[in-house]
Amino acid sequence: MTTFWSLYVTVLTLGTIFSLTWLLLSTRKGQREEVTDETVGHAFDGIEEYDNPLPKWWFWLFVGTIVFALGYLVLYPGLGNWKGMLPGYAYLDNDKQTEFSNGQQGWTGVHEWEKEMAKAQARFGPIYAKFAAMPIEEVAKDPQALKMGARLFASNCSVCHGSDAKGAFGFPNLTDNDWRWGGEPETIKATIMGGRHGVMPAWAEVIGDQGVADVAAFVVSKLDGRTLPQGVKADVQNGQKIFAANCVACHGPEGKGTPAMGAPNLTHPQAFIYGSSFAQLQQTIRYGRQGQMPAQEQLQGNDKVHLLAAYVYSLTHQAEPAKAE
Ligand code: HEC
Ligand code: HEC
Repeated sequence: MTTFWSLYVTVLTLGTIFSLTWLLLSTRKGQREEVTDETVGHAFDGIEEYDNPLPKWWFWLFVGTIVFALGYLVLYPGLGNWKGMLPGYAYLDNDKQTEFSNGQQGWTGVHEWEKEMAKAQARFGPIYAKFAAMPIEEVAKDPQALKMGARLFASNCSVCHGSDAKGAFGFPNLTDNDWRWGGEPETIKATIMGGRHGVMPAWAEVIGDQGVADVAAFVVSKLDGRTLPQGVKADVQNGQKIFAANCVACHGPEGKGTPAMGAPNLTHPQAFIYGSSFAQLQQTIRYGRQGQMPAQEQLQGNDKVHLLAAYVYSLTHQAEPAKAE
């Protein structure tokens, strides 16, 4: 924290405590000591207010919270850069240590967390390592591994891919065997480790609005084999020419996709992530799309990604998908 923010926090915190103390004492001054049935003199809707001192227990409770707050702020970090006077909690079994792995002096909760992580690592590390040494296809048959994989998936992947891994708009379905980047076990692992960035260029400037409509019509009627909506003015033959000139480099001559580039198969509209209606296709082709799968190598490490890859692989290779408990 910079000195400015440290001061800001300190002044704000102490200022609040002192003004509360002032409020408490100033409203008490000049008040009678004994309880009477006199009122302050105003009435509202027939309700009057007694002119009595604050109850003693309430007053002392308030004083107590102020004393507690000041004591707390002296002992623990809370006032800007002040680190508190308490020594830090003992780190693991070394209870004399006063300078910690995070370079901080004074009290910190970091060790509680480090302890928990160390415990989890000691407990699960060897199990992760055991599975990481096995081929992904084998791991994908192990019920314990799949349960762990399902749990990792639920906490790290389901926000985008859905808790059933069936995807959503902009996020691919991982259960349908329609792979944008490839469904081999090692390819799935590479996808999760390094992340992926799919780049579909924008075509409005290159082929114009009519060109967009024509090539979208070609995708719908020739590649997907669907009929066009009524009243569409589009030249499918011209669309085919545009496709041959501009799209085959990535989507392939038959539009079946190129996994090396993440260019999807355009003959499977049910697997499109940006919608397959004529209007949605034009939107995609006109403005382009940029799907981002975030890399997990730093976040999860190799062993967890190995389990995740096995879990994802199992979704299309097991009759009964595993569930997170
Ligand atoms: C440079 C390579 C490249 C070219 C050229 C290209 N595309 Fe794409 N296209 C992609 C990639 C990669 C994606 C996936 C984008 C994503 O996942 O965000 C994609 C996605 C799409 C989609 C969306 C599929 C879905 O899942 O919703 C459509 C439709 C499409 N392209 C049609 C076309 C058409 C028509 C052309 C030619 C006018 C074309 N593409 C040219 C690479 C390309
Ligand atoms: C922030 C959203 C997000 C999160 C979180 C996320 N993904 Fe993805 N994932 C995507 C997107 C978007 C794509 C498609 C990338 C593209 O356009 O090609 C994708 C693609 C994939 C693919 C490739 C699918 C194919 O058809 O080739 C796999 C496998 C995958 N994700 C697995 C995972 C796993 C496992 C996790 C959890 C560790 C995860 N994803 C977390 C957004 C996400």
